Amino acid sequence: MSEKLHPVPAGFEKSARINEQDYHALYERSLTSPAAFWAEQAQRIDWITPFTKVKHTSFDIHNVSIRWFEDGTTNVAMNCIDRHLPHRAHQTAIIWEGDDPALSRHVTYGELHEQVCRFANVLKKHGVKKGDRVTIYLPMIPEAAFAMLACARIGAVHSVVFGGFSPEALAGRIADAASDVVVTADEGLRGGRRVPLKSNVDAALEKVEGVKSVIVVTRTGAEVDMTPGRDYRYEEEAASVHADCPYAEMNAEDPLFILYTSGSTGQPKGVVHTTGGYLVHVALTHEAVFDYRDGEVYWCTADVGWVTGHSYILYGPLANGATTLMFEGVPNYPDVRRFWEVIDKHKVSIFYTAPTAIRALMAAGEEPVKKTSRKSLRLLGSVGEPINPEAWEWYHRVVGEGRCPIVDTWWQTETGGILIAPLPGATALKPGSATRPLFGVFPEIVDAGGNVLTGACEGNLVIADSWPGQARTVFGDHERFAQTYFSAYPGKYFTGDGARRDADGYYWITGRVDDVINVSGHRLGTAEIESALVAHEKVSEAAVVGYPHDLKGQGIYAYVTLMEGAHATEHLRKELVKWVRAEIGPIAAPDVIQFASGLPKTRSGKIMRRILRKIAEGEFGALGDTSTLADPGVVEELVRERPGA
Ligand code: PRX
Repeated sequence: MSEKLHPVPAGFEKSARINEQDYHALYERSLTSPAAFWAEQAQRIDWITPFTKVKHTSFDIHNVSIRWFEDGTTNVAMNCIDRHLPHRAHQTAIIWEGDDPALSRHVTYGELHEQVCRFANVLKKHGVKKGDRVTIYLPMIPEAAFAMLACARIGAVHSVVFGGFSPEALAGRIADAASDVVVTADEGLRGGRRVPLKSNVDAALEKVEGVKSVIVVTRTGAEVDMTPGRDYRYEEEAASVHADCPYAEMNAEDPLFILYTSGSTGQPKGVVHTTGGYLVHVALTHEAVFDYRDGEVYWCTADVGWVTGHSYILYGPLANGATTLMFEGVPNYPDVRRFWEVIDKHKVSIFYTAPTAIRALMAAGEEPVKKTSRKSLRLLGSVGEPINPEAWEWYHRVVGEGRCPIVDTWWQTETGGILIAPLPGATALKPGSATRPLFGVFPEIVDAGGNVLTGACEGNLVIADSWPGQARTVFGDHERFAQTYFSAYPGKYFTGDGARRDADGYYWITGRVDDVINVSGHRLGTAEIESALVAHEKVSEAAVVGYPHDLKGQGIYAYVTLMEGAHATEHLRKELVKWVRAEIGPIAAPDVIQFASGLPKTRSGKIMRRILRKIAEGEFGALGDTSTLADPGVVEELVRERPGA
C-alpha cells in the first residue's frame, strides 16, 4: 500500500476552519470531557427546549440504550429551513441538475420553506401523524428533499427506498415499516432511461396490505395507472393545501428516519436514527470535514436513497445553511465529461463522490476531464468503499490538479455521519487511508479474541463509546440491534470492518470481515442474494461471495446447485440473473454464476465460505485445509469448472 504523504496545502493550513493544533485540542477535550464537548457542539442547532442531560448511553448487550440530549426538544426542518430565513430567504438552498443537461433549477431557502410546508400539509391531509412511517420511493428530484423535510416537520418518520430497488424489495420495506402512505413519482429518469417507479409501487402493493394513499409526483408526465381512492397526484394535492405549516416540537430522541441496510444475515434491517444527536453530528461533520464556507456550492453525488444522501446532501448541508447540489443523472450521460461540466456550470467548490465512479471515469482517460476547467474546485471527497491509491492519485492529480485535498471519509448507515476522515486544514494525507478519528470518536482495533491491540496493528474495527449520530435501534427489533452490533465484542460497537492502524495512528479500512459485500459502493448481504436465488423453482442451494472487481470494487459470485431434473444451461444462467434483478434490484445481479453439483460443507453441514471465496478469487493454491469437508471432491469440481479457469 502506498504510504506517500501529501502535506496540508499552505492555503488550507492558514485559512481552514480547523488546523492541526485545533484538531488535537478538540480531540483531547472530547476524550477528557465528552459531556462538555458535546454540549458545546449541540449549540450548532437551535433547540426549542434546551437539554440538561447530554449523554446517557450503554453498550451492555443486556441493556443497549443510546440517548443524547434526551430532555431537549427541537425540530429538524426548523433547523434546516426556518432559522435560516431571516438572512438566507433568497439564497439558493438546493441546485437541482437534471438528467438532461439542459434542465436545472434553483430552490431558495424561502421556496424550500413553502414547498416543505405544502408537502407537510398534503401528508397531514392523508392522515399522517407524529411517529407514522412514510415510505418515499422517488428519483433524485427536489420533491425528494421536500418530502423528507416535510416528514421531519410534522414528526413523521421517513423510510426512503432507493429507486433502483425492485417491487419485491420495496414491498418488504413498506411492510416492515408498516407505512400507510407511499410517496413516488410517475417515472424516474437516469442516463436517458426511464425508471417505472409508479408501476413498481403498483406491483409492490399487490404484495403488501395497509397502504391507504399513494402520492404521485409528476416527473416525466408519462401515463400511469391511478387507482381511484388510493392514488393522488401530488401537484393537485399541493395546490389544495395551505402554504404554511407549523413545525412539531420533537424530543431529541424521537425517530427521524428509518433506512434499510444489508447485514450478514437475513433480510435488510431498518436502522433507526433520531433527531437531536443525529443533526448535531451531521452539521458538525459537514462543516469540519468539508471545511464548508458560507456561500460555497457543495455537491455530493450520492442518491438520497442511501445514508450519504440523507446526511450529506440533505441534513448536514441544510443545517449549515449551505447550497447543496442534487444531481438526477449518472456520471457518463450524455458522456463521461458530465461531472466536470456540472462542476463548471454551477461553480462547485466541494465535490464528494464514490471510488467506483472515480475508477470508471479514470478508465475513460484524462482527456475528457481536461476539456473542462474545474477551477472552482477546492476540496474533493470520497466515500463508500476503500479507495485504491491509483484512483486516489488520479482524482488528486487530474481532477483536482494537485491543489485540492481529498477527504476519504469512513462511516456507515449505522454511524449516521462520518467517524474517521482527514480534516483538510489539519491532516497530511496518505492515499488509501481514511486517516484519523474525528472528535468524540474512539476507534479500537481488536483481534478475534477481543483483545485491544495497540500501536501499529491490524484486526477488526470497533468503536469504544457512543457518538451522537449513532443509530439507536433496528426498527421493531431491538434485540437484533443488540446482537448485531454489541455481541461480538462486549461493551463495544462492532463495525463489521477490518482495519489496519499504522505507526502514525492512521486508519486503513481493509473492507468487510462479515458476509456483507460492497459492490460499487452499495452494501449487499450475501444471505439476501442467496435467498433470492433459492426462491427460484429450479435452484436447490446457493452460496454467494464477493471477489475483487476492477471497477466495482467487489463483484458478486454465486455458486448454485440445481433441483433434480433441472439443467445447467446458459439460458438458465441468464434467467437467474434476471430473477435476482427482479427480486432485489439491478445492483444485486450476480456477475458470475457457477453451477455446481454440490457445495463444500463441513461434516456438520456448514458451507465453507472461505474456500468459495478463494475459488472466486482464482486463488486455487491457497485453499487451505479441505480435509474437514464432508466431500473433498466437491472442491476439485468447483476449481475445474470455474468459469474462465
Ligand atoms: O465497509 C465500509 C464501507 O462501507 C460500509 C458502510 O456501507 P453503508 O452503510 O452503505 O454506508 C456507505 C456510506 C457511508 C462500511 O462498513 N466504507 C464506507 N466508507 C468507506 C468504506 N470503506 C473504506 N473507506 C471508506 N471511506
